[in-house]
Amino acid sequence: MLKDKKILLGITGSIAAYKAATLTRLLVKEGAKVKVVMTPLAKEFITPVTMATLSNNPVMSDFFSYDDGDWHSHVALGVWADLFLIAPASANTMAKMATGVCDNLLLTTYLSMRCQVMLAPAMDMDMYAHPATQGNLSILKSRGNIILEPSSGELASGLSGKGRMEEPEEILEAVKKHFSKKKSLDGKKILITAGPTYEPIDPVRFIGNYSSGKMGFAIAIKSAEMGAQVDLICGPASGLPTHPLIKIHQVKTAGEMFAAAVKLFKKSDVAVMAAAVADFTPEKVAPEKIKRKGDEMIIKLVPTKDIAAELGKAKTKKQVLVGFALESQDEMKNAVKKLKSKNLDLIVLNSLRDKGAGFGFDTNKITVIDKDNKICNFELKHKNEVAADILDKIIEIL
Ligand code: CTP
Repeated sequence: MLKDKKILLGITGSIAAYKAATLTRLLVKEGAKVKVVMTPLAKEFITPVTMATLSNNPVMSDFFSYDDGDWHSHVALGVWADLFLIAPASANTMAKMATGVCDNLLLTTYLSMRCQVMLAPAMDMDMYAHPATQGNLSILKSRGNIILEPSSGELASGLSGKGRMEEPEEILEAVKKHFSKKKSLDGKKILITAGPTYEPIDPVRFIGNYSSGKMGFAIAIKSAEMGAQVDLICGPASGLPTHPLIKIHQVKTAGEMFAAAVKLFKKSDVAVMAAAVADFTPEKVAPEKIKRKGDEMIIKLVPTKDIAAELGKAKTKKQVLVGFALESQDEMKNAVKKLKSKNLDLIVLNSLRDKGAGFGFDTNKITVIDKDNKICNFELKHKNEVAADILDKIIEIL
């Protein structure tokens, strides 16, 4: 099943490092080619000799090999690997990965990785539960890394709780599942709009909204993982996803987003309109900063063009168009109205009345409605899982 798959195994400083030996044996037995990269501290927990013997390859830990004067190229490792599996992943390494610190070979390799990264965290339960660790995990998840949740049980500290690294057999199953996953969007082109738009009033002020872009980014990452080529048109937002199959088109205003979307839609199989596009824009942008004068200030706003509606008009029978509706009242009625008026194939409804759904959250609770008024309700989930649910619905139509 894993024949000739190139797996780079990253080992960090944790008692669970001993399990990396069994894991390596299991991977090699399945036919995988395994190379090992260790953090300096990991060598205190398991020896490079053991790992080199089991993987049939020299272990890399330093930037240079002083014996033969060779440079261990993290870039070459990033190109070589089909999967970067970090097991165990310590709290320290995950924190550095989340912030881009790269003070050892494992971390520079992470930043150079082109393939999927999978992490099996291992640490004390309180470290795992700490908001800092959970925050870092959430960042890593949002960037498309697969996290193999630790299990609960007896820990090296003697305490009992959540933090035990998954057993090597379980990790092997996850690796096999990853490689067997059908790339169900292989060769498809997906256009995604995400984030807010900023409509300028003068050189220093704008009308915007609270959209974080997270939902659109999660759909972009999932689509790319499923093999799609993604064009992501993104308004001003931070935390943009990185993936070799995602091309980012950065825009600021609704007008710029409209122009980019209309152009790119022609070559797309699917378009997902996840952006919170401003409905109105100032009629005139003041060339200089507006000074305070008088008691009131009136800015005349004019409507922006509706991107989803325009794509709905241009849509061919082969193209799938998906819109979003974030509503605060009469949710279903409003969503169905938008589905019909914009000629969408699917609309994803989220209600501002649901806790944990809407702008800024890492979670979302959606209802998907299709053209035949078929309604599908989903539970509150992480936006990555919500993205997978939405893509499953799109694949059904495709
Ligand atoms: N949308 C768009 N272009 C616009 C406005 C909205 O592409 N100028 C898209 C959104 O990305 C979303 C869908 O249309 O997929 C619905 O957006 P929403 O703001 O909820 O709907 P509006 O049509 O603007 O209606 P209203 O604001 O009155 O609820």
